Amino acid sequence: MITIKENLHYVGVNDRVKHRFEGLWFLPEGVSYNAYLIVDEKVALIDTVDVGFCPELLDNIRAVIGDRPIDYIVVNHVEPDHSGSLALLRQFYPNVRVVGNKKTFDMLSGYYGITPETGLCVAEGDTLKLGSRTLTFHLAPMLHWPETMVTHVADEGILFSGDAFGCFGALNGAVVDRDMDCTRFWPEMERYYAAILGKFGAPVRTALKKLGGLDIRMICPTHGPVWADQAARAIDTYRRMASGTTEEGLVICYGSMYGHTQRVAEAVAQGAAEAGLKRIIVHNLSVTQPSFVLADIYRYGALAIGGPTYNGGIFPVVEDLLKRLAGREVKGRKMGCFGGFTWTPAAVKVIDEYNAKMGLDMVAPGIEWKQKAGDDTLGQARALGHALAQAVMANATQQ
Ligand SMILES: Cc1cc2nc3c(=O)[nH]c(=O)nc-3n(C[C@H](O)[C@H](O)[C@H](O)COP(=O)(O)O)c2cc1C
Ligand SMILES: [Fe+2]
Ligand SMILES: [Fe+2]
Repeated sequence: MITIKENLHYVGVNDRVKHRFEGLWFLPEGVSYNAYLIVDEKVALIDTVDVGFCPELLDNIRAVIGDRPIDYIVVNHVEPDHSGSLALLRQFYPNVRVVGNKKTFDMLSGYYGITPETGLCVAEGDTLKLGSRTLTFHLAPMLHWPETMVTHVADEGILFSGDAFGCFGALNGAVVDRDMDCTRFWPEMERYYAAILGKFGAPVRTALKKLGGLDIRMICPTHGPVWADQAARAIDTYRRMASGTTEEGLVICYGSMYGHTQRVAEAVAQGAAEAGLKRIIVHNLSVTQPSFVLADIYRYGALAIGGPTYNGGIFPVVEDLLKRLAGREVKGRKMGCFGGFTWTPAAVKVIDEYNAKMGLDMVAPGIEWKQKAGDDTLGQARALGHALAQAVMANATQQ
């Protein structure tokens, strides 16, 4: 049994098998699906876990309350990594009342046949008294689904935050931040944000404003550690990422089949280094998994993207990144691009078209070359690196 506070228990599980979260985002160290049990005059389970782990969740619950029934299951988020065990749990706890908002039940009825009549449909600010603890519900739409909400225990400043403030990475024994070395979780929080929440900067800002009015001393998210001692740092991380604040640095992302684009990427890096920039990150997009690339792009103020012309368009791994960026809040960063061709150019044009949606600030026209990148092209690339370095050194907000 893992006790977080008196009568508040961790009953979540670790997934060390899933290779890619949501089928997309690489999980080098697994992920936890967190669920919490409050034992009071009434028993409330806050969120559930992926259906594959339901037996483990049941064992964890029984280790705390034995045969005592659960009265409520609060569904802060319907994504199946958290709601997946609901239908099975209701077989074991037939009288349990599911708690969600109107949009929660719109989804639960379709997924599991759970309707508001059998549960408890709550609205902004509604409360549910469990005994000595009272839950207050606050809607936090598009964090990152329309139904997302958070559950607050005002007296003790505990926030059950759903995916917000969560991280990739399984929990290795301890659950609360003060009982572990959290070093590995901070970059994983940024990678989680970039991958999962990056599209929703405006809703995150709205939610942070709302949460700013609450007493928050402990954050219990649905993935990663419980933030107690470092709750303020978790909130600051979100505030920084949602505000578009960047650090001084350049991320160079390229794809290359035969090395020509790579040579141009190297020249951009050399130019930036010659200009005095210290943080230069180069990602070969055929090698680095996109979530790591996105996390770096979120962190730094300058970006260069390059790729070969490929079948009348741009090399697929580069287009993949461009598509992901077009759906995220990255505007305002300093940008440069480059791309070669052998018979008819397309790569630079494609990057420019995507940038119309991305809204980055191009510091120079795209560099285009035919066949081998000659000295002229490499010179232009070094000049681009120089310009990006100067732009980011003048513009980036230092942490
Ligand atoms: C499968 C494939 C498709 C290509 N399609 C085009 C094309 O549509 N138009 C073009 O001008 N070049 C095309 N190219 C040529 C590449 O753009 C050119 O070889 C480029 O310089 C490769 O850069 P890299 O050495 O960085 O891989 C294609 C190359 C390959 C292998
Ligand atoms: Fe989610
Ligand atoms: Fe989740």
